[in-house]
Amino acid sequence: MREYKIAAIPGDGIGPEVISAGLEVLGALALQDGGFKLKVTDFDWGSAYYKQHGVMMPAGGHEQLRAFDAIYFGAVGAPDVPDHITLWGLRLAICQPLDQYANVRPTRILPGIKSPLRNVATGKELDWVIVRENSEGEYAGHGGRSHRGHPQEVGTELVIFTRAGVERIMRFAFALARSRPRKLLTVVTKSNAQRNGRVMWDEIAAQVAGEFPDVQWDKMLVDAMTMRMVLKPESLDTIVATNLHADILSDLAAALAGSLGIAPTANLNPDRKAPSMFEPIHGSAFDITGKGIANPIATFWTGAMMLEHLGEPRAAAKLMQAVEKVTADAANHTPDLGGKATTRSVTDAMKKAIKEP
Ligand code: IPM
Ligand code: MG
Repeated sequence: MREYKIAAIPGDGIGPEVISAGLEVLGALALQDGGFKLKVTDFDWGSAYYKQHGVMMPAGGHEQLRAFDAIYFGAVGAPDVPDHITLWGLRLAICQPLDQYANVRPTRILPGIKSPLRNVATGKELDWVIVRENSEGEYAGHGGRSHRGHPQEVGTELVIFTRAGVERIMRFAFALARSRPRKLLTVVTKSNAQRNGRVMWDEIAAQVAGEFPDVQWDKMLVDAMTMRMVLKPESLDTIVATNLHADILSDLAAALAGSLGIAPTANLNPDRKAPSMFEPIHGSAFDITGKGIANPIATFWTGAMMLEHLGEPRAAAKLMQAVEKVTADAANHTPDLGGKATTRSVTDAMKKAIKEP
């Protein structure tokens, strides 16, 4: 029996609600599959931990995570703790030291879900994977504040691109594009206005493209990209963008696919030198915390990405098949999708779907 060690970090807000639903479904799936087992260890890190200990996780917490095969992460953020503290204290404090440099965000319209776009009905017109550079760029953390409170106060936020960082994300994105049927990659940029780092970004894209002659690629300025996503969704397949650009574009993508409550993400260490982390894109959503109506679908989908990464493609496919069966029935739609279902009822529907052949 293959056994995988999973670190569960439910975190804040609806994080614990969706992670417990996810673990329940993964447990049912493992039983049904019979070939593997998940050994889950729970970590209570997050904003509640911060209020008690003054830190989001113990010093060097990421070192504890190295012993695991994967990390299943809920959400981070609380109304009474500044967002930059929760983010840098937990999520980025894990992603960056564990060098999870490729953030992968698939988007497609699941059965039964309606896109706000008029001419988009199924995963045929809108089937994208956004690759987000996850280690540097606008999230490098370089910058500073001085002369605080004075009229001459300055705040800087430097955008850092390194050749090594750009080359590895471009190679990852071209390889992913090659693995998909259309072999089509769009490189997002803003090298008209930003004439240094982004020009290097473009040059490296062109250079790496030479290693992938079978991948068709093009380049889009990020502002024009938002229009193309809305007006010509079928012209896109795999997309690579910098940390902040992809952050923004992936929320747009999630909305176009019907709801942020569905969108999954994987923070990958593609070299497998450290565990990768899997999470729903949505945040802690305190407005609905504790109401039992959080949509667990994103957490199930990211669970499928985790199984795929662990080397369990059969179980991953089974899980996605169950997700599609469940979303196809509007009775399983939570309020974010305009329905009345609850986290509990969607989880039960999933467990039932998993048992079906
Ligand atoms: C995301 C989120 C985070 C980000 C937030 C929670 C800081 O929006 O994963 O897209 O900006 O990276
Ligand atoms: Mg975001």
